[in-house]
This record gives sequence, structure tokens and C-alpha cells, in this order.
Amino acid sequence: MMKLNSSSKLNFPKHLAIIMDGNGRWAKKKHSTRSFGHRFGVEKFKSVAKYCGKIGIGHLSVFAFSTENWKRPPEEVKFIMGLFEEYLSKALSEFQGENFRVNFLGGKTLLSEKIRNLIARAERETKSCTGMVLNIAANYGSKDEITRAVKEIAKKVEAGQISIDQIDETLISQNLYTDGQPDVDLVIRTGEEKRISNFLLWQSAYAEYIFLDTLWPDFKLEFIDDAIREFSSRKRRFGGIAIDS
Ligand code: IPE
Ligand code: IPE
Ligand code: MG
Repeated sequence: MMKLNSSSKLNFPKHLAIIMDGNGRWAKKKHSTRSFGHRFGVEKFKSVAKYCGKIGIGHLSVFAFSTENWKRPPEEVKFIMGLFEEYLSKALSEFQGENFRVNFLGGKTLLSEKIRNLIARAERETKSCTGMVLNIAANYGSKDEITRAVKEIAKKVEAGQISIDQIDETLISQNLYTDGQPDVDLVIRTGEEKRISNFLLWQSAYAEYIFLDTLWPDFKLEFIDDAIREFSSRKRRFGGIAIDS
């Protein structure tokens, strides 16, 4: 595998987002339970996060559980939440060892008290870490996030703290869970589907997209290298015109 690092002459994404999809189908192909797929998916996530930190990705956002995933059978939701709790209760030393600053995207009220406490501890105890910012999206949906931001801003207007004219794109960004972070510039989705599924809509407004057929548990670290090379070769115009035209 070609090991990339930030000194490679490639344009690295500042903020990489990954939609880790396909755990269930992977397990089905192996005649196993969906739970087995989720367990394997967590292991894959751990190695991918570590790798991204090593090669110099500044911000990594991963989609672990969406606001829509509550629709799944209660046993599956319960298993995923159990897995999340198990992961978080062991992950702190790993986050610190890798120098990751951890940040959770999503509303906390639907999560168990135990998970909420583990999240608060992970965010608090990694606050001074200077390596990769790792955003873990759990109970996350972009529409939910933007709705919350609108309410927060409306409250400030109502209280007379700001005027309507002060509402701009920066203020909206500041009221999202990714406050202070660069916009997402590359999104990778595994698992064949070509859609966003309510992930980081505002933050990915001008992102590049890579859709892979690979099911998440089969993801290979070298796909990150391939994705960065592909990203680096894309001509990003942001509505302007190409410099060489
Ligand atoms: C992604 O894998 C993990 C979560 C959404 C929690 P899926 O569970 O969606 O797997 P598929 O898409 O059914 O194969
Ligand atoms: C997106 O996958 C959410 C996560 C990976 C956590 P889904 O499996 O929930 O997405 P859809 O249902 O195919 O859009
Ligand atoms: Mg899926």
C-alpha cells in the first residue's frame, strides 16, 4: 500500500466525511446476523480513524447512527447503542494516544444517560488534543441540526441580542455541531447507494463525492489513499471558471 502523508505532493482534503454504509448487507452475504456486521464495522472504523490521523487528515467526520435509524427494529437499535456504549467506554485512552480531539454530532437527549456521560467525558478529556478532530455523528441528521440552529438564532433575535440583519452564513455555521471547523471538502460513501441520507448537508455544500460499491466492513485503508488522489485531481471551481481556461 502506498502510504500517503501530508508531505506527499497532493492536495489533501481539510475535512473528510465518511458515510460508513453496508454493514447489514455484508453480514447477510456471510449468512450472519446484522449485529455481526455492525461489530465488524466498528473495528473497521477504528482502523480508518487511526490511519486518517497518521496521514495528516485534519478533520474526520463519520456517520455512525442517523436520526432516521431509530426506525429500525428495536433489537437492532438496542444492539447498536450497546456497541456504541461498549466502544466509548474503552476508547478514551485510544483517542488520547492518537491525540484525537473528539466531538459528537447530534442531539443528545435520545441517547442513554450512560452514553451521554461517556460522550461528555470524551469531549472534555480530549479538548486539549492537538491532532485530528474526530467528529462522530450519532443520532445525527442535517435537517435536525439546521432546525436546531434556526431555533437558537430565533431565540437570540427574540431576546433582542441580535438583529435579523446579523443573520448570515457564518452565524448559521456557528450554530451547527461543527462550529469552528472547515467545511467538508470530500465525502466518501461505501455500500453502493448514491445518496447523502441527511449527512452534513450544509457543511458539504461544495464537497467532492466518491461513492464506492464496497460494503463498509470490506473497506481497505488504501481506498483512503485512492480517494485523496482522486480528490487532488478534481478541478474545483466553486461556481467560478477554471484558472487555465
Ligand atoms: C451502516 O450499515 C450502519 C448504520 C446505519 C448504523 P447498515 O446497517 O445501514 O447496513 P446496510 O445498508 O443495511 O447493509
Ligand atoms: C446512512 O446509512 C447512515 C449511516 C451510515 C449511519 P443508512 O443505511 O441509514 O442510509 P439509507 O437508509 O440507505 O439512506
Ligand atoms: Mg444502510
